[in-house]
Amino acid sequence: MQTILRRLCILLAVPLVANAEHPGKQVYTQLCAACHGANGEGVGNGAFPPMKNSEWVKGDNKKIAQILLHGLKGPVSVAGKTYDLQMPAQGALSSQQKVDVINYIQQQWGGKKKDTFTIKMMEEEIKRSSKRKKPWTAVELESAFPKQGLFKNLLIYEYKGSWRKLPDFTKLKAESVEEEHHGSISLRNIQRNGYFGVVWEGSIELDKAGKYFFELGSDDGSRLIINGKEVINHDGTHGVGIIKKGTANLDKGEQQIRFEYFEYTGDRAISLRFKHESGGWQWLSDENKAVVNKKKAAIPIDLTPKADGQVYIYNNFIEGMNARAVAVGFPGGFSYGFGTSNGELELVWKGKFMNARRHWTSRGKGFERPFGDTLTTLSGEKKAAWLVNGAPAKVRFKGYDLDKVGNPTFRYTLNGVEVREKVVPTEGGFDRELSFQSKRAVNLELVLNPAYDAATPNTVGGNLNLEVEGTKVKGATLVKPINVSKSENLKLSYTWTK
Ligand code: HEC
Repeated sequence: MQTILRRLCILLAVPLVANAEHPGKQVYTQLCAACHGANGEGVGNGAFPPMKNSEWVKGDNKKIAQILLHGLKGPVSVAGKTYDLQMPAQGALSSQQKVDVINYIQQQWGGKKKDTFTIKMMEEEIKRSSKRKKPWTAVELESAFPKQGLFKNLLIYEYKGSWRKLPDFTKLKAESVEEEHHGSISLRNIQRNGYFGVVWEGSIELDKAGKYFFELGSDDGSRLIINGKEVINHDGTHGVGIIKKGTANLDKGEQQIRFEYFEYTGDRAISLRFKHESGGWQWLSDENKAVVNKKKAAIPIDLTPKADGQVYIYNNFIEGMNARAVAVGFPGGFSYGFGTSNGELELVWKGKFMNARRHWTSRGKGFERPFGDTLTTLSGEKKAAWLVNGAPAKVRFKGYDLDKVGNPTFRYTLNGVEVREKVVPTEGGFDRELSFQSKRAVNLELVLNPAYDAATPNTVGGNLNLEVEGTKVKGATLVKPINVSKSENLKLSYTWTK
């Protein structure tokens, strides 16, 4: 009898526990289902994002905690679709309820088998973000919680230089050496926008011996070396979509990995993965979207320079400019685009600098609009910007030099007249500082925006005043006589009217 009773109890107890509702279910139904759907399918014909198939729900539970604590705003990619709305912070929930609902959604839709988020972890998240007053953006969250990679003791060496082929890094002196704590090959923390090289050195642990397959895409060139042997050479300038393969027979245990990379200009990306002959792919780099899904141009990558940081340079197709343009963004929210084919400052704008996502994840197709506002065209648009003795100048771009903060001085020639131009932000606008050197006397003319009115010599494009030092204004052109063998200067001071 006793045994029967005991058996009965066991029989009863098992289904009772299995059927017990997860405490987070009620929280979900009451507070989340209105926007994310009772079955996690999203709401409003795809207006609100789903829980089902969401990489956020499958991902780091600390990130979900941050979303519940502070909300989420702006573009976010969920299950292959972009949403651009706002989720309010879930202030009505206690910490325990937040923990419960996170565990619930991760088991219901995130593939987890049991509770993994604890009240202690929640308290850490509260502490970590106690100063935060604004909702998160997806980009901020992704960079605040990067995935932990496979590398141990990963060092990252940064080099400066302009190469079209990999240099011999062993002969160069690194600008900096740092530990990459996230254990992944990543360009995330590299501030430079071109003309640099990086070497990563670290080790990974393999739990099986055997034949390993590697796939590498990089923009620009790169080289993978394992235990001192080159496995893939992917040198030269190219986009990340071109994949090179390699194989290596490796023993079980620790493997020394060295990865060399350089970036010339334009896009920058690395995608490196490997697998055992009997296993699935694993990533050594974290910018892997380029290979997985080239079209996902979802989350903007805001390149706006930090208030106290370096000047940014962005070489790519920019909407409203000639194809060969360089955009320069200053800390403080002033940016300009310089046309290298016409030697002209074509566009200026305020606010944010550039959104690099389009050019980052796929090979620079299409023109990206500047990310900011108050866009103003300075030159005569399609017309030649510079005239030499009355005829359109032959422009030859020679490159640029960077000063300490990364502000470029452009070098170009106009029918042989050597020009240097530097743009410097000022209190209410910016100055263009030009200098000229010539072997013969010529008349240089700069064609202004047609909106420039010589009779009231101030407005340019409606929202800029222009003051000119040492030059005549004739119609909508500036006339600058250049003498022989003597350096001539010209300063144009622009100030915003609004
Ligand atoms: C008022 C509507 C609303 C409520 C209530 C709401 N959310 Fe959201 N949630 C959103 C929106 C909108 C987004 C996308 C925000 C964006 O576009 O940046 C989002 C995004 C998310 C994301 C990341 C994207 C995804 O779909 O995986 C998670 C995770 C999430 N919410 C969980 C929750 C949980 C858990 C609750 C309940 C405690 C909740 N939300 C309550 C509207 C809501």
